[in-house]
Amino acid sequence: MTQIRAKVAVLISGRGSNMTALVEAAKAPDCPFEIVLVLSNKPEAEGLAIAEASGIATMAIDHKPFGADREAHERAVDAVLREAGVEYVALAGYMRVLTAFLVEAWAGRMINIHPSLLPKYPGLDTHRRAIEAGDADAGCTAHLVTVGVDEGPIIDQTRVPVIAGDTPETLSARVLEAEHRLYPAALAKLVRG
Ligand code: GRF
Repeated sequence: MTQIRAKVAVLISGRGSNMTALVEAAKAPDCPFEIVLVLSNKPEAEGLAIAEASGIATMAIDHKPFGADREAHERAVDAVLREAGVEYVALAGYMRVLTAFLVEAWAGRMINIHPSLLPKYPGLDTHRRAIEAGDADAGCTAHLVTVGVDEGPIIDQTRVPVIAGDTPETLSARVLEAEHRLYPAALAKLVRG
């Protein structure tokens, strides 16, 4: 029997290593989702070429021509997602603060991965902040997307130790490995309800 899998679009702005982790996870026969589209607001995003090489449909919708009208850019993104029959949206290093339009359009069906143990350190520079605070643990969080940046309901977290001598770079690399395990599992959990 062929399993019906949820159609997921991944939104990226950069290298797309979490996107790649989702694509790899979707290759498992029992994975409840498939990646049907990788979309970027940056035409030059490295992750687009990586997705394309894996045979996944890609699309760039540059935000620049939309200027300050963030909602108009989101309406263009939303139209493409719907056209592709997308059911869930996974943000993976998508460096745009979303308006209520896109968040509400995908409420309960849009997930994000963040490199900290939320509610600690929403926003940028999470690893430097964790090191400067002297935290024993850092980590990552998969959460539903709501209008408040990095504030949505938490689906799952992974704790990662901060090691003496860690720099933001070394800590980030260790957390990223955890992200790559956490994100596919959290998306599968969301899709399975
Ligand atoms: C990750 O650390 C993710 O948690 C954050 O942005 C970074 C994206 O990295 N939201 P990548 O593009 O998935 O490699």
